[in-house]
Amino acid sequence: MSKKALITGITGQDGSHLADLLLKKGYEVNGIIRRASTFNTQRLEHIYQDPHTKNYIFRLHYGDLADANTIRKLIYKIDPDEIYNLAAQSHVRVSFDIPEYTANIVAMGTLRLLEAIKDYEEQTGHRVKFYQASSSEMYGSSPAPQNENTSFNPRSPYAYSKVFAFHCTKNYREAYNLFAANGILFNHEGPRRGETFVTRKITRGVARILAGLDKKIYLGNLDAKRDWGYAPEYVEAMWLMLQQPEPEDYVIGTGEAHSVKEFLELAFHYVGISNWQDYIEIDPRYYRPTEVDYLVADISKAKTKLGWQPKTKFEELVKIMIKHDLELQGLKEKAEQIKLS
Ligand code: NAP
Ligand code: GDD
Repeated sequence: MSKKALITGITGQDGSHLADLLLKKGYEVNGIIRRASTFNTQRLEHIYQDPHTKNYIFRLHYGDLADANTIRKLIYKIDPDEIYNLAAQSHVRVSFDIPEYTANIVAMGTLRLLEAIKDYEEQTGHRVKFYQASSSEMYGSSPAPQNENTSFNPRSPYAYSKVFAFHCTKNYREAYNLFAANGILFNHEGPRRGETFVTRKITRGVARILAGLDKKIYLGNLDAKRDWGYAPEYVEAMWLMLQQPEPEDYVIGTGEAHSVKEFLELAFHYVGISNWQDYIEIDPRYYRPTEVDYLVADISKAKTKLGWQPKTKFEELVKIMIKHDLELQGLKEKAEQIKLS
């Protein structure tokens, strides 16, 4: 019998990569999707299976983290071995505009899931492993490098909601003996990254400028530093956390920080443009009321205990993303000039 996984947020960047990974490992993969007026499963098209297919092992179910009743019913129906909670209103800037909604999904949504799992375990005796998508944003203004012992100083509604969810996960582990682990992931990116996060906004913007569709990219704070890694490698770490003998919390990152400005310079450099400043305009609407200036991961624990370490570093990540966006704009020759290692 293959293992069964349930992924919330399966339509997102990480959810789609995790689905790829678990299908390759032979899991039956179940995902919760929200009803939308347009298709929201673009990132899953390559693995989509018609429900009429024989041995159908990739199953999508309608649900929402705001809806405890449906979550509970789905857990009983699917009977999963592992649950990965990746669903979130995940945009930090937007969380200042919609703080209550963000907290409802990110904080309360996690609590709803954990309560449902606790009940389910008590009723059925079936042990379910739980992964919580915690975030380096929780560190906020704490000095870098950050590790599992660094205190949280959240600087946004998104971040304080993630802190709540982190502590819920830890408390259900300690109070009810749930196998519940927090992955404290630093920023991770790639061609499937949402278009409004800064890395993708830049690589997409550069490609659109070259295609003659845009003249400028409008950005906010260029001085913030982030530890940017490659998303497909990070979902491997999520899976590893649930294969350990005991549930624990782990920091995942690259151990290198770069500024938004460095990302910009490099993205333009790979398409042969050195005067990148001519294509950038600062728009204060992209500033955050409170910013997180400097995040960089200390991944000693993950290296030792999980045997995990990043393979793709900053320069390669920028190349992968810019090459992909050039291809999307039909700029085949330009894309071919970028050689991946
Ligand atoms: P993402 O691309 O924004 O995906 C978020 C997912 O959550 C989407 O599938 C979205 O569905 C779903 N979702 C949003 N609201 C929901 C709701 N009310 N009920 C059910 N599903 C809902 O995010 P990501 O980059 O893949 O990140 C995955 C998780 O890791 C998130 O929890 C994020 O906060 C966390 N995280 C991300 C990073 C990073 O650098 N990427 C780092 C640390 C932690 P729709 O497609 O319908 O919108
Ligand atoms: N989005 C965005 N748009 N960010 C900008 C812009 C812009 O136009 N201009 C500058 N920035 C700066 C932000 O102020 C921030 O300091 C940095 O670029 C990164 O912003 P995002 O790409 O939006 O990511 P984030 O670090 O705020 O949050 C992401 O990483 C977290 C992990 O640390 C998200 O994926 C979160 O969900 C995740 O938890």
